[in-house]
Amino acid sequence: MLANKRILLIISGGIAAYKSLDLIRRLKERGASVTPVMTKAAEQFVTPLSVSALAGDKLYRDLFDLTDEAEMGHIQLSRSADLILVAPCTADLMARMAQGRADDLASTLLLATDTPVMVAPAMNVRMWDHAATQRNLETLRGDGIVFVGPNDGDMACGEFGPGRMAEPLEIVAAVEAHFAGGPLQGRHVLMTSGPTHEPIDPVRYIANRSSGAQGAAIAKALVALGAKVTFVSGPASVPMPQGVQLVPVQTAQEMLAAVEAALPADAAVFTAAVADWRVEGASDRKLKKSKDGLPTLAFAENPDILKTVSHLTSDRPSLVVGFAAETDDVIDNAVAKRTRKGCDWIVANDVSPETGIMGGSENAVHLITDDGVDTWPRMSKDDVARQLAVKLAEALA
Ligand code: CTP
Repeated sequence: MLANKRILLIISGGIAAYKSLDLIRRLKERGASVTPVMTKAAEQFVTPLSVSALAGDKLYRDLFDLTDEAEMGHIQLSRSADLILVAPCTADLMARMAQGRADDLASTLLLATDTPVMVAPAMNVRMWDHAATQRNLETLRGDGIVFVGPNDGDMACGEFGPGRMAEPLEIVAAVEAHFAGGPLQGRHVLMTSGPTHEPIDPVRYIANRSSGAQGAAIAKALVALGAKVTFVSGPASVPMPQGVQLVPVQTAQEMLAAVEAALPADAAVFTAAVADWRVEGASDRKLKKSKDGLPTLAFAENPDILKTVSHLTSDRPSLVVGFAAETDDVIDNAVAKRTRKGCDWIVANDVSPETGIMGGSENAVHLITDDGVDTWPRMSKDDVARQLAVKLAEALA
């Protein structure tokens, strides 16, 4: 049932828009409220009057409607729902979403929202199979957008193949599954991600090449399974994942403090590339060149966050996962690291420059647990994340 769930339904311009009328009815039968939004092209396929009458709510059509801005601005409209459903979603709207455009009300709402988004594509089979649409699909999946369909079948244009919008009842089932929650519903997962920056003086710092990509992908995968994720992140170069409790930090010491403040947690996943050393007594004034020669930096050891949390006697998460970025003897080093740190699992990878893993979009990992070493094939960081999130959910079940 969808009692009290607020769904913002965006209808874009495809022949499948006629099915949206049935979709509205099915969603409302199950107790959801439906606020409809139509693109200009959608109005060529179904009338605004039918959509608004079936939804029993005001229809939103125009980005620059001043009355609406006075009543409810587009930012608030984009966030007032529990779910944004785009059905049908044309190839054109998918492309605009993937590019982050905001050139009409629908695309602006999708860009301004922090609400989960579900998309039911509908288009000609060639358009669906086109490399550009498939690229957009990957981008949008990477952004955490959930897809339902398209299905294979006869199309209104006379062709056959994938591109037909999922049937209204399939879309309703996907919406119900979304609200039923995943296997990590009610679980709290604490994560670290990205590099740390250790100041030398107010303008200089010591950093490393971590982009934070793998950490962000894991957070997204955990959120998709229903987890509450506290995401303690150093200054990463990738966008922050949606739907997490973000705690931005700069240094290793700040990262440890944020981690301790976020406990208790059911599991902890430490993907951050934490600097092992900081500059002792970093200067609060910019260091100047001097005739007396080069400055000497003294180092102090940073706290080991993974080791600290693994050895907690109270509030230790029941599953602590560390990462091992190695360039030599990857498995042997990672096995030893797991024992030294006291964590439950280590995800080991080879970050030698020739692998292209650090800063790249793919990863090749070994999962080291009590049961031994499980070597996964090279795959996208998103796939590593999804596979790891599923394993973590199984371990906590
Ligand atoms: N880690 C941490 N705090 C630190 C250093 C590392 O929490 N101060 C965590 C990382 O987030 C990662 C794991 O420990 O999950 C291993 O990090 P890595 O840099 O590979 O290991 P190091 O401890 O630096 O060991 P070594 O220098 O021997 O490679």
